[in-house]
Amino acid sequence: MTSAAESKEALRRAMRRQRAEVPVEQRRLASETLTNASRSLLLGLSAPIVSGYVPIRAEIDPGALMASMERYGARLALPRVEGDRLAFRLQLPGTPLVPGAYGIGEPAAGSPVVVPDLMLVPLLAFDRRGGRLGYGAGYYDRAITTMQPRLTVGLAFACQEVAAVPMETHDRRLDLILTEQGLIDCRRGAAHSRSMRILFLGDICGRPGRTIVTQQVPLLRQRWKLDAVIANGENAAAGFGITEAILHEFLECGIDAVTLGNHSWDQREALVFIDRQPRLVRPANYPAGTPGRGATLIETASGARVLVVNLLGRLFMEAFDDSVRAVERELEACPLGQVADAIVVDMHCEATSEKQVMGHMLDGRVSLVVGTHTHTPSADARILSGGTAFQTDTGMCGDYAGVIGFDRREPVRRYIERTPGGRWESASGPGTLCGIAIETDDRTGLAVSAARVCIGPELENCGPAW
Ligand SMILES: [Fe+2]
Ligand SMILES: [Fe+2]
Repeated sequence: MTSAAESKEALRRAMRRQRAEVPVEQRRLASETLTNASRSLLLGLSAPIVSGYVPIRAEIDPGALMASMERYGARLALPRVEGDRLAFRLQLPGTPLVPGAYGIGEPAAGSPVVVPDLMLVPLLAFDRRGGRLGYGAGYYDRAITTMQPRLTVGLAFACQEVAAVPMETHDRRLDLILTEQGLIDCRRGAAHSRSMRILFLGDICGRPGRTIVTQQVPLLRQRWKLDAVIANGENAAAGFGITEAILHEFLECGIDAVTLGNHSWDQREALVFIDRQPRLVRPANYPAGTPGRGATLIETASGARVLVVNLLGRLFMEAFDDSVRAVERELEACPLGQVADAIVVDMHCEATSEKQVMGHMLDGRVSLVVGTHTHTPSADARILSGGTAFQTDTGMCGDYAGVIGFDRREPVRRYIERTPGGRWESASGPGTLCGIAIETDDRTGLAVSAARVCIGPELENCGPAW
């Protein structure tokens, strides 16, 4: 069980107790008070289908609210457990409910199946960002994902509020929460800003790269008020892979997530420790069964969530699984605006064209597509027409006096003499940090600014105007 799943289970136990302690009279009054919101919930929806639920145990009763909405023109539907999913069926006036799964009353199997415009959702706990703790079976999360209702409204007693519900990638946030104390708007930008400043750093190469990155990241976090820092770490251990000790150095200096690439497993220990390091991401299009994960969801200090996806290109690289299918799978599990407040895709590959194709393919659906692997920054950091920030390659963090971060003597000799010789050693001069800094839009999670970042002795220095 993941740590989020464990904390959800503990919270479930606590909230069941707390909810059950609401006195019966207060419970009845609370349910009636919900009707005050029926008109405002229906604003802008013409003859909507509203799905409710039949309350069980200590759930707040939506009956009065549903009846009131029906008077304002809504058609009512109720959920029916069908296999591992909820089907919503119209609840026709005068038709009795039939006992269904879990002994809960459900519409008869013959009632028409509908897709609700407005979904009333029961819950155990909620937070002000729409985080919902359900009962653990995932019925409502799946229903929201597949049906995409125009409005999701969690119903709860005010005492069911917590500071933050632990969320997993499949959990869906609600648009509104309605309690006996009123309506809470949890949608993007309603309660507080979800605009974010994100810094992505290219391949950290050997000691020169590690030194400049661990020096600069704490300063840049402060100076630019960064919400998240992500870095590619595939060359961190003397140019070849990453060790767990180096990963700890990165996490301690303020990097939130580390991506990899074709050098993921150069340090064999990574095949083992990646499974206990949720913030280390290897390419998502490795074959099924590869250790680790192809995406991770990080939470910023303000509670916003950033999905980080790593992909490997297939042109002029070893053959891997389809990067298109892999990224679609990750985005479907964690769409922008529903689960993630920002999405960063590290497209690790050789070919310029392949990186640009990925940028255009994901344009408008992710915050940033950034290329890594060539260790040389391209001058094309910009925002594409659909709102996704893009840079073909963000360059490395390392010693640019060498050849792609390695001491230049052996590569130059080998190029001239065409014979095998010594090892490629990491360059040892001062490092230059390269990356891209973006700011995301509060409402959409797409980019509103994108700027190349370069700090160090070898290249022209640049950065965002923050
Ligand atoms: Fe690299
Ligand atoms: Fe690479």
